[in-house]
Amino acid sequence: AEVIIMPTRAEAGALVADEIARGIRANPEFVLGLATGSTPLPVYEALRASLDGVDVSQVRGFALDEYVGLDPAHPESYRSVITREVVEPLGLDPARVRVPDGSLARIAHAGELYDAAILDAGGVDLQILGIGTDGHIGFNEPGSSFASRTRVKTLTAQTRDDNARFFASPAEVPMHCITQGLGTILEARHLVLLAFGAGKAAALAAAVEGPVTASVPGSAIQLHPHVTVIVDEEAASELD
Ligand code: F6R
Repeated sequence: AEVIIMPTRAEAGALVADEIARGIRANPEFVLGLATGSTPLPVYEALRASLDGVDVSQVRGFALDEYVGLDPAHPESYRSVITREVVEPLGLDPARVRVPDGSLARIAHAGELYDAAILDAGGVDLQILGIGTDGHIGFNEPGSSFASRTRVKTLTAQTRDDNARFFASPAEVPMHCITQGLGTILEARHLVLLAFGAGKAAALAAAVEGPVTASVPGSAIQLHPHVTVIVDEEAASELD
């Protein structure tokens, strides 16, 4: 992977936003792979300027994951987050931006429908990724198969703890999620993994330089031919 260390999160965000804007100018039907959580927010922030005057009416988006059993109207459902942080501020067509369906009524088929929709769109052109402190990408927790497809997973105690900050109490964090599999993610044409802060240093080093192992799901990026890793000094601090 190409590793780029940026002085600030804002500059990292601008770099990725410019790359995305270039892609959309070249291909108005660009398919953008979206992540949630804190890490991609500087990208979405910078995209407001980078996409100024760019026609985004045909752009498609696919989020990585969603909580299972959380009301889609809950402000922390990833459907709500993507609508608030991406679709509305960037003026994307809401009908062209999908988030895995975490509703209990449809969960049995939600994974295969989602993978089929990605294929139907021609695949993801650029996938934004964050990394969990336990090494997950998407919500593929340690032990996930590198061949996995979009499916239901159980969140680790570590991830529920890390994400408790978004909820009123830790008990409110859902137990389960539906996430693109590692195999699904690896099919995107360009992976852009972002990590900021000292808390990500160990997971980032393990993913980028450690052995390729299901114990560190992020290490799956080493199997992909086109990966860009963009980090700040703190997150880079354990790289060789
Ligand atoms: C979010 C996702 C997760 C996060 C990871 C880091 O869609 O798939 O892998 O990227 O949990 O979260 P933050 O960015 O909040 O530190």
